[in-house]
Amino acid sequence: MSEHTMRAVTIKEFGGPEVLTVEHVARPEPLPTEVLVRVHAAGINPVDWKTREGQGMAGLQTLPMILGWDVSGVVEEVGFGVTTLSPGDEVYAMPWFPRAAGAYAEYVTAPSRHFARKPASIGHVEAAALPLAALTAWQILVDTADVKAGQRVLVHAAAGGVGHLAVQFAKHLGAEVVATAREPRHAWLKELGADEIIDYTQQRFEDVTGNIDVVIDLIGTRDDTDARSVSVTRPGGLIVAPNGVSERLATVAGQAGVRTTPFLVEPDSAALTTIAGLVDSGEVRIEVERTFALEEAAEAHRLGETNRTRGKLVLTVTS
Ligand SMILES: NC(=O)c1ccc[n+]([C@@H]2O[C@H](COP(=O)([O-])OP(=O)(O)OC[C@H]3O[C@@H](n4cnc5c(N)ncnc54)[C@H](OP(=O)(O)O)[C@@H]3O)[C@@H](O)[C@H]2O)c1
Repeated sequence: MSEHTMRAVTIKEFGGPEVLTVEHVARPEPLPTEVLVRVHAAGINPVDWKTREGQGMAGLQTLPMILGWDVSGVVEEVGFGVTTLSPGDEVYAMPWFPRAAGAYAEYVTAPSRHFARKPASIGHVEAAALPLAALTAWQILVDTADVKAGQRVLVHAAAGGVGHLAVQFAKHLGAEVVATAREPRHAWLKELGADEIIDYTQQRFEDVTGNIDVVIDLIGTRDDTDARSVSVTRPGGLIVAPNGVSERLATVAGQAGVRTTPFLVEPDSAALTTIAGLVDSGEVRIEVERTFALEEAAEAHRLGETNRTRGKLVLTVTS
């Protein structure tokens, strides 16, 4: 282990936000084909607090652990065999997922090819907000559902981290986008390209839309959203369920001839390069609602867990 130390948000036991504590720990060193990256900002995702409380990816972790998967930073050192990155390069990534990446820290190491060049037109805070949410939206729309121009895509939780990117990627692919969100988010989602926006607190979405080809269900069983989505989906259409396919959804969808699939995001530097291009061309925007210092990770989790975030929350690590 390195003689250098670094600040990191560690958890020694699973539990509430209070288990997040900043400590000085050994700085990791890059193995052959890995890079050491100085983290400027670390994005926060629901899987972070789910894992913190013993759900999410907790079963795959060993305690103590450093939470966090989304990184934007600068390459500090490269291990033997790294050919595509050099010290000083600005990079972003969701390395190692679902193994621990330790992004809530001043440094991370990971295989160099988990990283992509950060979008040049945005800062580290915005770049750190992108990887997990953007890869989720992209891999669902492009790899899982193969969305084509003219198809109708319904995005539940369109105002959140994944949702607001899914709206923009679906538009980029030429789809017609239907979004669910509370009314204060509607003008913003319209600007991002949503064609129909439904205030789910005022109307049942199945009363006002239909003939959907692909549903991105970022809600799941809450309010029976997953099973209710079947009635708006055309026979042969697809419901993608990142929170899992419930038994009820499988049954109702099976009866209606609607396909369902669970989904888990994967590291994907090629997709991150494509996404960086869309950001740099101005076609896609990333929304960061608020930033927090490493020491404020618990407060950030408390806010995230209210499930009301517009876009993303990000930890600033090094300026
Ligand atoms: N399997 C995977 O690979 C994977 C990857 C990424 C995310 N996920 C999961 O996907 C979900 C969304 O992730 P995220 O990062 O986008 O979360 P997020 O940013 O925390 O989502 C917050 C948003 O949810 C909206 N919302 C809450 N209840 C709603 C409802 N009943 N209908 C419509 N919108 C609602 C809120 O919008 P309003 O203010 O309009 O209510 C808020 O903007 C999480 O459960 C996460 O764990 C899974």
